[in-house]
Amino acid sequence: MSASPIHLADYEALALASTDPATWAYLHGAAADGITHKANRSAWDQLALQPRVLRSLRHGSTRTTLLGHAMAWPALVAPMAYQCLAHPSGEAGMALAAAMQGAGMVISHQTSLPLPTVMAPVLHEPGRGPLWFQLYPQSDKNATHAVVAMAQTQGCQALVLTADAPVNGVRDQERRAAFQLPASVQAAHWPPAAAPAHAESGLCHGAAHAAFTWDDLAWLQSITPLPILIKGVLHPDDAVTAARMGVDGLIVSNHGGRTLDTALPTAHALPRVARALAQLAQAPGPAPVGRATGRPAALLVDGGIRRGTDVLKALALGADAVLVGRPCLHGLNHNGPHGAAHVLRLLRDEFEAAMALCGCAQLADIRSNDLVLTASQQKYNQ
Ligand SMILES: Cc1cc2nc3c(=O)[nH]c(=O)nc-3n(C[C@H](O)[C@H](O)[C@H](O)COP(=O)(O)O)c2cc1C
Repeated sequence: MSASPIHLADYEALALASTDPATWAYLHGAAADGITHKANRSAWDQLALQPRVLRSLRHGSTRTTLLGHAMAWPALVAPMAYQCLAHPSGEAGMALAAAMQGAGMVISHQTSLPLPTVMAPVLHEPGRGPLWFQLYPQSDKNATHAVVAMAQTQGCQALVLTADAPVNGVRDQERRAAFQLPASVQAAHWPPAAAPAHAESGLCHGAAHAAFTWDDLAWLQSITPLPILIKGVLHPDDAVTAARMGVDGLIVSNHGGRTLDTALPTAHALPRVARALAQLAQAPGPAPVGRATGRPAALLVDGGIRRGTDVLKALALGADAVLVGRPCLHGLNHNGPHGAAHVLRLLRDEFEAAMALCGCAQLADIRSNDLVLTASQQKYNQ
């Protein structure tokens, strides 16, 4: 490709062309047959927009507040392990890119750079988005406690507990490509013996017996005042359980199709989860609120977000914000922090255009205007 990239898929093509096949299998790959990975994308495409016209667009803004943090627009970089595989600037470059574009970032527990190296350059940057730490709980509770304390000390504003990967997914692409983490790229805050090196067999490694449960969530809540979000919720009943336990946020996610293949696409799960949370809020008795924030659980979604219209659809279906995964790695891979920042900029510009074309001046207009039709509505409700 000679011209400069103009949308996110251009960055994917550029990253593919310059990355060795084994590293690509890790950075871009999915579980098993990649059915969920593909479905995440097509599910957003299949939602049709019915835009509103002749509405005032004066005082248009994408500004929002997420768990009390003011943001320029509702997007965060998803937690992704070992970003030094994509570019030597790794997670530090990604954090800079997110801050430059007013997006948030969730730093993976398997960050390849130490947390202070990632956080310090952006912590006091005006206009940056929220910085959260993603947690893979370890069977050794002392180790989990220590990493939570470190995240808190370093200034992370929330914990994201990943619940959909108690064991590795079946990563056929990585195994076929014989992917191995190079010695130069390792997890900075994960004991080497325990590291769930995704290059290995996709099976249990004896980890399943130590899998984190709802009881352990209560323990986690007891050791930190930080807001806690659960990432990897697809079932509405799990969302209700989490909200009843006072979690501060939920991320509807299937890990970008990297864990359980054939799990439902997030664009389909999101409205079901949003409906269950709304019903819970209206049920008799006090509405459940987050333990740290005292507000109803924030709702986020990721998986296949590639266009500004996807961001708009996610908000229309009940999300407060989106997370973006692979495209940010593609941008980082192609042109370091500038590439990742450009990816976010492209998405933000597209989102603003989508808002204006749907007659929405503010984010609240997106939720209240019945903008999205599902495939079945398109077919039967004529
Ligand atoms: C290379 C890579 C590494 C990832 N590492 C993590 C991780 O450490 N923790 C986690 O919760 N999710 C991880 N994920 C999943 C992402 O957070 C996110 O759920 C997914 O990438 C969103 O889908 P998308 O890539 O289609 O945007 C990873 C994804 C990729 C592509």
